[in-house]
Amino acid sequence: MDQARERAEELRSRIREHQYRYYVLDDPVISDLEFDRMFSELSQLEREFPDILVPDSPTQRVGGGISPGFASVAHSSPVLSLSNAFSQEEVRVFHRRVLEFARGEGPSYVIEPKIDGLSVILRYTEGLLSMGLTRGDGTTGEDVTANMKTVRSIPLSLRKPHGSVPSFLEVRGEVYLPKDDFAELNHQRDEAGLPVFANPRNAAAGSIRQLDPRVAAQRPLKALFYEIRDIRGEIPYPPTEEDSLILLKELGFPIPKHTFCDRIEALLSQIAVWEELRYQLPYDTDGVVIKVNRFGLGRSMGATAHSPRWQLAFKFPAEQVETRVRDIVVQVGRTGVLTPTAILDPVRVSGSTVSRATLHNEDIIKEKDIRIGDAVVLQKAGDVIPEIVTVLADKRTGSETEFRMPSLCPSCSSVVIRLPGEVAYRCVAASCPAQLRERLIHFASRQAMDIRGLGPAMVDLLIGQNLVSDAGDLYFLEAEDIQLLPRQGQKSAENLLKAIEASKVRPLSRLIFALGIRHVGQRAAWVLAEHFGTFQAFLGASPEELAEVEDVGPETVRSIVSSREQESMGRLLTKLKQAGLRALAENEERPATRQGPLAGKTFVVTGTFPGMTRGEVESAVVELGGKVSSAVSRKTYALVLGENPGSKLEKAISLGVRIMSPDEFIELSSSKEEEDEY
Ligand code: IVH
Repeated sequence: MDQARERAEELRSRIREHQYRYYVLDDPVISDLEFDRMFSELSQLEREFPDILVPDSPTQRVGGGISPGFASVAHSSPVLSLSNAFSQEEVRVFHRRVLEFARGEGPSYVIEPKIDGLSVILRYTEGLLSMGLTRGDGTTGEDVTANMKTVRSIPLSLRKPHGSVPSFLEVRGEVYLPKDDFAELNHQRDEAGLPVFANPRNAAAGSIRQLDPRVAAQRPLKALFYEIRDIRGEIPYPPTEEDSLILLKELGFPIPKHTFCDRIEALLSQIAVWEELRYQLPYDTDGVVIKVNRFGLGRSMGATAHSPRWQLAFKFPAEQVETRVRDIVVQVGRTGVLTPTAILDPVRVSGSTVSRATLHNEDIIKEKDIRIGDAVVLQKAGDVIPEIVTVLADKRTGSETEFRMPSLCPSCSSVVIRLPGEVAYRCVAASCPAQLRERLIHFASRQAMDIRGLGPAMVDLLIGQNLVSDAGDLYFLEAEDIQLLPRQGQKSAENLLKAIEASKVRPLSRLIFALGIRHVGQRAAWVLAEHFGTFQAFLGASPEELAEVEDVGPETVRSIVSSREQESMGRLLTKLKQAGLRALAENEERPATRQGPLAGKTFVVTGTFPGMTRGEVESAVVELGGKVSSAVSRKTYALVLGENPGSKLEKAISLGVRIMSPDEFIELSSSKEEEDEY
């Protein structure tokens, strides 16, 4: 037994050493096979003699069973984020500010890639990993210790660089999925018929937030650490960013590649170098982080509620790639609008593979002169929505064909019309199956009636069997109807009916939103619900009464009035009434919403967003528990910045209000998004 204990300890220390060489130093000295042999010898010993097992044994990465959920844990100090710069000028402004504080002494900077992963905090007590937390809302995070332990580049115990380990250590870093592994993971998921992840960040976040650590263990996650948040014991807090990185490495943490510089011109040219370098990095980056090296100087500059003033994230402009337009297809939306969409040769851009891009409307196609067969430049607007930037006209061969908007609806062959003053063509046939499909998907969506299990696939089945002609019919479905559908059994029928039944009681704003009236997005629906209080009052309101509602414009009023007059809407409302739908007063729902990730935060949204209306961004804020305001003030939590912003941007800068790009906003909101993934 003692012999076994001794041998196990020896193996552990060798395995740790080799893991350190592999993950931190990137300099392995033995083959994978030799490593595996050692590892399996250790596992076997520990199985044979369970008494010799220690919690930080390299074999202990995959913990026990499924945890019931993640406990919330308060952070010891706020976990801040970074303020963003998008131009050289902003970097110069930052530098000037640093100079003011440096008082004659030349500042120096450390530049690191901004790793596009999941921000995590680790705590080590007496050298042992005792807690792994997500950033959460910056004040409280989730305890994801079990999953964090499965990440092989995270040390379970600290090395002793100076003979001792800190009695307590808290570090911050980023868990990520390497680009290659991401591609492989998606390939496997695709083959297994599972949904693929949109990008490595989502895959990493989804994996760390998996309730079953065994699933997390199968994902080849890695981590990099860049900040010591707290260190106690004999080793003092390092005086500079550089020393901090060195110490992290000595303690056993993998650290990001980094460069140094001290003059503004050097800083700017290094940023340019990083911009090229990023494609060679094994992980996705959307920028670099510039940090004042000397903590003393940094601390004197202080922090806002959101970000330190001595660190800056420089966001790279969107990555642009070349691809080809294979075809332009036309999709019919919920309100009958025909949207042309480019089908592309699949390409990887800004972290995911893209095979289609919306072209919005005919005018845009004409303006950009996009033809079928064209080579085009593609980028993701706000790093999220794919868009065609330009056509590479000199690559034309003559075989390209111009796109023509169909004169008949591609779904129901009714004549399409273009309303005066509108760019969009629409199909106005009440019975158009494509519109019905979109209306039902919208009605059942999480933001509307939230009917679980009623996604696009189920909607297609129901329409295919002529079981529904509008959303009202959902409430009259029978178990037998559903069981007869392909791939549906008794259990799935029961579940779906239960979900439909549950949706009979929903807050009024959701019901109004679910109706799918043009111009009535989530925000308008919420405002209308607050104003009228009951479904009856909303339906009965005169145009004048509607116009009185704050933030409801004349277009919206016209749209509400005309949709109420439609026969199809009348039929739908009658069915909903017969089914016994009960709309709750708004205050019955608000507490739940207020708990969203944006609870208690006020946002101002400015500028235009490619592929999204400002209203949609605002609706997302409200849905996630936040508030929307039209003017920037000191109370504003953040300004979400679209393209061509107006004076609000200046106001925000002058008040020191945090400025968020659309993707940051999505990142902030995504703690909710991730909840029911995978
Ligand atoms: S420093 C006070 N360095 O980017 C903020 N952040 O908003 C300390 N990130 O979620 C962050 N790579 O998790 C820093 N090399 C790096 C980073 C990095 C990625 C993340 C961070 C945060 C976001 C910035």
